[in-house]
Amino acid sequence: SEIYLQGLGGATPPFTTDGVRLEEAAREKLEPAPFGYVAGGAGSGATVRANRAAFDRWSLVPRMLAEATERDLSTTVLGTAMPAPVLLAPVGVQSIVHPDGELATARAAAALGVPMVLSTVSSYSMEEVAEVGGPRWFQLYWPNEPDVCASLLHRAKAAGYEVLVVTLDTWTLAWRPTDLDQAYLPFLRGMGLANIFSDPAFRAALAAPPEDDQPMAILRWVSLFTGQDKSWDRLAFLREHWDGPIVLKGVQHPDDARRAADEGMDGVVVSNHGGRQVDGAVAALEVLPEIAAAVGSRMSVLFDSGVRTGADVVKALALGADAVLLGRPYVYGLGLGGEAGVRHVLRGLLAETDLTMALCGKKSLSEVDSTLLR
Ligand code: FNR
Repeated sequence: SEIYLQGLGGATPPFTTDGVRLEEAAREKLEPAPFGYVAGGAGSGATVRANRAAFDRWSLVPRMLAEATERDLSTTVLGTAMPAPVLLAPVGVQSIVHPDGELATARAAAALGVPMVLSTVSSYSMEEVAEVGGPRWFQLYWPNEPDVCASLLHRAKAAGYEVLVVTLDTWTLAWRPTDLDQAYLPFLRGMGLANIFSDPAFRAALAAPPEDDQPMAILRWVSLFTGQDKSWDRLAFLREHWDGPIVLKGVQHPDDARRAADEGMDGVVVSNHGGRQVDGAVAALEVLPEIAAAVGSRMSVLFDSGVRTGADVVKALALGADAVLLGRPYVYGLGLGGEAGVRHVLRGLLAETDLTMALCGKKSLSEVDSTLLR
């Protein structure tokens, strides 16, 4: 209704309200390197396309005369209350698309009460982002050195991050042609690794501060965060240094989800990293129902990879997700309009989700299940 009212005054929204066409709007506005960094996938892009195709294979079957005038989409996941089952997925080095980066994203999220999952490779330190306020979780890229790992966890706890999200699928970086074609220049120009570069344990391991020898600091960063796969028994280390909930991100097989539950983890994010890691990996939505069936009664099941519209949110919930994480769309919003751009994208998605619920005849999340799907 706000958009209709603005229309009466002759004003239109800053950019499209279509979650799918947003990518085209961003392609027109952003430079090729930043756009490629956000839009790109691994290899041929098969999994990026598969993520979207999987949503299109499911249809909603709306119900009528269901008295859905008033709706309540609010929920609580692992102790964090949210207005709708939507969180912002961790996205690194957001200063590549906008100078205000994660600060702008955090302000938009906090204004709406939407939880933000902050990436390890944030362009602003986790303490600076925490000052913005709002519900916040911390995403860990698992460092190869225990003291750096412990330092990041300690800082996150001290800065009020409520849940730890450990990303498992990116222990080494995939073959990403869009970034390789740009020789990773946006990263190598040092665009924002402030969260790592400000870490005391990271700095202690350097011969010179990152400000004085940035190429060496970047090499050190690469060797600390890539190239070493971990094992299930090392989750104990994370438990030892983090007393809140722990969620494993990047789970795609029900046996891995079962193992996560057996190891005492609190949740999983069913995700293929938005198709950015294994080219040819199964669409995340395709494996969601079997993972929800395997562990949904024992732990929280979150989902990302391919969510673009309100209908997508409702479909993922109907297939067993407790909440979804939104990736690229809000980053396009950041590139197109900074904080106001992220807010525009988020408010649109929340409104579209609410309207989808209404017109499907669903008043609350507890009424959404597989009977809504064909
Ligand atoms: C990501 N993703 C990601 N994940 C993570 O755990 N840590 C990170 O730093 C990043 N960085 C990142 C950068 C960019 C530009 C993108 C697009 C993605 C993955 C992200 O959290 C999420 O899994 C996907 O983005 C979800 O897919 P969609 O919504 O983009 O299709």
